[in-house]
Amino acid sequence: MEKLIYLDSGATTFPKPEEVYVAMDKFFRCCGVNPGRSGYDLCMVAGSMVEETRKLLTKFLNGTDPNRLIFASNATDALNLAIFGLLKEGDHAITSNIDHNSVLRPLFHLYKYGGVEVDLVPFDSQGFVDPEEFARRFKKNTKLVAINHCSNVIGTVQPVQEIGELCRERGITLLVDAAQSAGKIPINMAKMNIDVVAFTGHKSLMGPMGIGGLYVREGVEIRHTRAGGTGVRSAVRTHLDEYPYRLEYGTPNLPGIAGLNAGVKWVLKEGMSTIHGRETKLLGMLRDGLREIDGVTLYCQEDLANHIGVLAFNVEGLEAMDTGTMLDVDYSITCRTGLHCAPRVHKQLGTDKIHGTVRFGLGPFNTAEDIEAAINAVGKIARIRLKQKAC
Ligand code: ALA
Repeated sequence: MEKLIYLDSGATTFPKPEEVYVAMDKFFRCCGVNPGRSGYDLCMVAGSMVEETRKLLTKFLNGTDPNRLIFASNATDALNLAIFGLLKEGDHAITSNIDHNSVLRPLFHLYKYGGVEVDLVPFDSQGFVDPEEFARRFKKNTKLVAINHCSNVIGTVQPVQEIGELCRERGITLLVDAAQSAGKIPINMAKMNIDVVAFTGHKSLMGPMGIGGLYVREGVEIRHTRAGGTGVRSAVRTHLDEYPYRLEYGTPNLPGIAGLNAGVKWVLKEGMSTIHGRETKLLGMLRDGLREIDGVTLYCQEDLANHIGVLAFNVEGLEAMDTGTMLDVDYSITCRTGLHCAPRVHKQLGTDKIHGTVRFGLGPFNTAEDIEAAINAVGKIARIRLKQKAC
């Protein structure tokens, strides 16, 4: 079989560092018991690993209290906990066209069923939102601004710090979806004026699927919208108010947390700026190569200064899905095609009318050879298409 070229790291990074596989296997085999439920030694070891991971991630996000780092299943799960727990009937929330369905759908659900007003901010021609556009939409009842840190379609990094400043002045909670950014670019909750941040483990934090979480800044309270077992104070009739129990329900994903622990340590060992620097260099190569090809359209890739390694494009005359199939079948190159769970990005770009775009997502294990192969493959596909058109 031809070597697989993996360019779908926007969906999930693959493979994971060897340390992640080893840590998950080892921890699950030796200590795969239910942490925080009993006092025997193994239970304490499992519990210590969970607490160590909370501390690791709290430091990673520049939070201050590891108890306010809560584990959830993924970024969507974490964002649901935050959005449903922060808003109530009569509130107003603002998000943007750059956002993912993990933010849009909970908000539209609350609009339809929960009496919450929702406003959307567009992005500019380069894929960036203007902080002032949020401020212009602030109202007396605005309670939440939810924004995607990095677009999963076009890779643009949004001016979170500036949006945060404006939110702070008005006492509005800023929720950041860091699904694509955590592990690629630094997130400093304090400096960036972030109140709540949601992350997933399986992308650039290099962990497995099924684990993610939230950090909730001190002073911000999220109502519990679920209830259940916490392992402690079982006689209390309703769900516990204190963190982390407040937003954690039932047995945690222990192997997932062990893998995430190893993933974060790997990112720290490699250095986030080294990983991001390498990906940015490859992204530049990819962008420069693709834009030389007749019939290829790139979206929001002119200025790569505030970008992660995610690039969207189309080949003229082809549906994105067909380009993706050719890349896969003829060249063993993986990508994601379609709307990427971010329908409003495509609506604003006009690519919704042509069923979306092809997306390449770069990861820490990609090489210059992968990029050359991708440019060559897209070039061949575009030339075949141009020939067919000429006939
Ligand atoms: N949100 C993920 C993506 O962009 C799954 O592909």
